[in-house]
Amino acid sequence: MKLSVAQARRPESIGQEVTLQGWVRTRRDSKAGFSFLELNDGSSLGNIQVIAETSLPNYESDVKRLTAGASVTVTGVVRESPGKGQATEVLATGITLHGLADVDTYPLQKKRHSFEFLRSIAHLRPRSNLFGAVFRIRSRMAYAIHRFFQERGFVYVHTPIITASDCEGAGEMFRVVTMDGEKVRSGADEFFGKPTYLTVSGQLEGETFACALSNIYTFGPTFRAENSHTSRHAAEFWMIEPEIAFCDLEGDMALAEEMVKHLVTDALESCAEDLDFCNRFVDKGLIERLQFVRDRAFERVSYTEAVALLQGCGQSFEFPVEYGLALQSEHERYLTERHFRCPATVYNYPKGIKPFYMRRNDDGKTVAAMDLLVPGIGEIVGGSQREERLEVLLANLREQGLEESAYEWYVDLRRYGTVPHAGFGLGFERLLMFVTGVGNIRDVIPFPRTPGTAEF
Ligand code: 4AD
Ligand code: MG
Repeated sequence: MKLSVAQARRPESIGQEVTLQGWVRTRRDSKAGFSFLELNDGSSLGNIQVIAETSLPNYESDVKRLTAGASVTVTGVVRESPGKGQATEVLATGITLHGLADVDTYPLQKKRHSFEFLRSIAHLRPRSNLFGAVFRIRSRMAYAIHRFFQERGFVYVHTPIITASDCEGAGEMFRVVTMDGEKVRSGADEFFGKPTYLTVSGQLEGETFACALSNIYTFGPTFRAENSHTSRHAAEFWMIEPEIAFCDLEGDMALAEEMVKHLVTDALESCAEDLDFCNRFVDKGLIERLQFVRDRAFERVSYTEAVALLQGCGQSFEFPVEYGLALQSEHERYLTERHFRCPATVYNYPKGIKPFYMRRNDDGKTVAAMDLLVPGIGEIVGGSQREERLEVLLANLREQGLEESAYEWYVDLRRYGTVPHAGFGLGFERLLMFVTGVGNIRDVIPFPRTPGTAEF
């Protein structure tokens, strides 16, 4: 029976005849007439030990040539392992060699490599312990996100990747053009009849579906041409955007908090071996922090309170803290790491620093916006209640100098059966940085796209 390495490592498989397929991590030859192979197929962090006896017909011709990176099919019997730290091992009855990996050039030798080096071999880094762990956690978190929303009756909506509207109004979009250089240069390249861009957010299209199906979420790639060289910004990243009809800011914040807690809980339960590895080799306080986040209530603070708190805290910051200015990462981190010492949601931001679609509060100064901040990173969720009042929305568009005609369809939602509604965007890579302790966004996405880099 074909088993994964993860399955063969479980005591239940003892006694079974199995086929395993994967890549050799190490080979060690014993004087007692056999070799030990450590085999890994990506199904788990741990390898399985394979015992290859010299009596195998291809022992000299193949087994003795196996080195790190070589690919094999192993048939054999799972038995209890006398070795420490493993329940099972496999006594091979046959080994088929698929491909060798040259010892002198294979870049992933058995030693610790730097993140920077591994980034330069992003096509091979999933074979390393750390990246195997990170990308298994990524996969599990994607599944847990779908489950979280599906179990609560949210409908998954695929919003377009090519769009004509700038949701965030920040002008950080990539333009979509054809290969016709002449037309592009003359500005006549209008494949879609108007300028189009890679989406920065599926929110506006998502809102149309929320105003029909009530609760929806999107989960897809988004693109931002912001030239920020930080460890938390990528030009291509994945975002999860729920939109909830008949919901206000309070309900929005509650859902974001519940989701973050749910994902952390799921990771602790489902990714224990991989998280333990991250805890040992990436961030020694990781598991303790995740357990703390799982068990403790998050804090909430209004933007106005947060500004007062930062101004009075006695700490000096690189960027100024002043009502009306955006909170910088250093401010967000002070709030979660030093002041609250836990995740915190900041809400009711000044309208001048937020997009047109956010709902104006009665004070006339602030909008019903919220950012969920976590220690070590800062913002991982940004959201708001949406402006559902036609007149106010039109005034916002005008104030922000946006073409009303470009948002006709969006404004229609306020003309026909408007409802209070709210939503947020969770940056998937930011969540993964938080869950794995990995400090750079480039190391939680398979092939990172950042200013100046689009390798692979
Ligand atoms: O706060 P943002 O810009 O919000 C929106 O896009 C809204 N339309 C969401 C909504 O209400 N439906 O982005 C949401 C999240 C941020 O909190 C952050 O986690 C992540 O997306 N994000 C990025 N992640 C990686 N690289 C970037 N350049 C990012 N920009 C935003
Ligand atoms: Mg934001």
